[in-house]
Amino acid sequence: MTRIKTALAILIIFAVLQVAFVSSAQETKPLRESAEACEFGIGAAVNHEPLRFEKKYAEVLSREFNMIVAENVMKMVTLQPTPGRFDFTEADALVAFAEKHGMKMRGHTLVWHESLPTWLTEGKFTRDELMKIMETHIKTVMTHFKGKIFAWDVLNEAITEEGQLRDTIWLRGIGEEYMDLAFKWAREADPDAKLFYNDFNAEGMNAKSEGVYKLVKGLKDRGAPIDGIGLQTHLKLETPLSMDELRENMDRLAELGLEIQITELDMRTKNATGSPEEKLIAQAELYNNTLIACLEQPACTAVLFWGFTDRYTWLNPPGQREEAPLLFDRTYKSKPVYEAFQQTLELCPTIRAKS
Ligand code: XIL
Repeated sequence: MTRIKTALAILIIFAVLQVAFVSSAQETKPLRESAEACEFGIGAAVNHEPLRFEKKYAEVLSREFNMIVAENVMKMVTLQPTPGRFDFTEADALVAFAEKHGMKMRGHTLVWHESLPTWLTEGKFTRDELMKIMETHIKTVMTHFKGKIFAWDVLNEAITEEGQLRDTIWLRGIGEEYMDLAFKWAREADPDAKLFYNDFNAEGMNAKSEGVYKLVKGLKDRGAPIDGIGLQTHLKLETPLSMDELRENMDRLAELGLEIQITELDMRTKNATGSPEEKLIAQAELYNNTLIACLEQPACTAVLFWGFTDRYTWLNPPGQREEAPLLFDRTYKSKPVYEAFQQTLELCPTIRAKS
């Protein structure tokens, strides 16, 4: 089996290298067309500003992807800037875009320790008040988007690198129960939405993924309504994620009965060795192997990038251009990773049938 996988990977990489030099994205089949043939989600996080102001951004996004997630505008700081007053303007525009282009939408994120409004971080609240704030936020947001968002990151990044519970405003104020409550209230708000736990650096086998595994297993054992796990998968080319570890980790999560999605795929390349061309090829290979690992795991149903063009990525703060993490370059020209994904997604029905 491993040999078949390796042979497949080599075959694909070979095809990628060839295709990368003879074709462009415009001549090949859009990713979403190939993905849809095996009901696979191929997605990207959306930056609401270029979506509004840059035609090419919206064009490429709608042509290539069948799933989107808001990079920022569904976070609490945007949705509830003042206590009890919700602003859905930007988020609604994104939902309308998804509907118009037949894309599924993930919701990100309901309970997190970042992107919180200052009224919350600087306020003083009793345990009961904080619970009410969390319940109101979850229920108002999920009710607003009911039927429009198929999966929610209910809880984001609750575990530390050491695998312990992260010290957050929610843990301090409510206690460990805050996590079970979040899932319970989310289910009450929209019984049809899939409810996810989402975290980074928990893809391989390490202290953090061990902590995440224990957390989601605990939630399941206690009867909390959790359906899936999001592996953010923010990669670094110089320290590549081990595919064996990714597979082992996905296997144990799938055994818990959880759906798996790769939710925020991107890759730092700046500190890797090699020429820019060599880095692009190495990047394509690591990304492609990640996609194959997901396709070979029946519980893994989608891969979403955290952006899609190097023109807009959180890895390049304003004024910087050093990182080239995504599928398209700064001029929307496809990179080798795009061709790799195109080739592999074409094989999706075959790969799925074998696994
Ligand atoms: C990031 C956005 O990309 C940035 O624009 C923002 O300034 C901070 O948040 N994990 C997550 C995402 O769950 O919400 C984060 O997104 C990236 C890390």
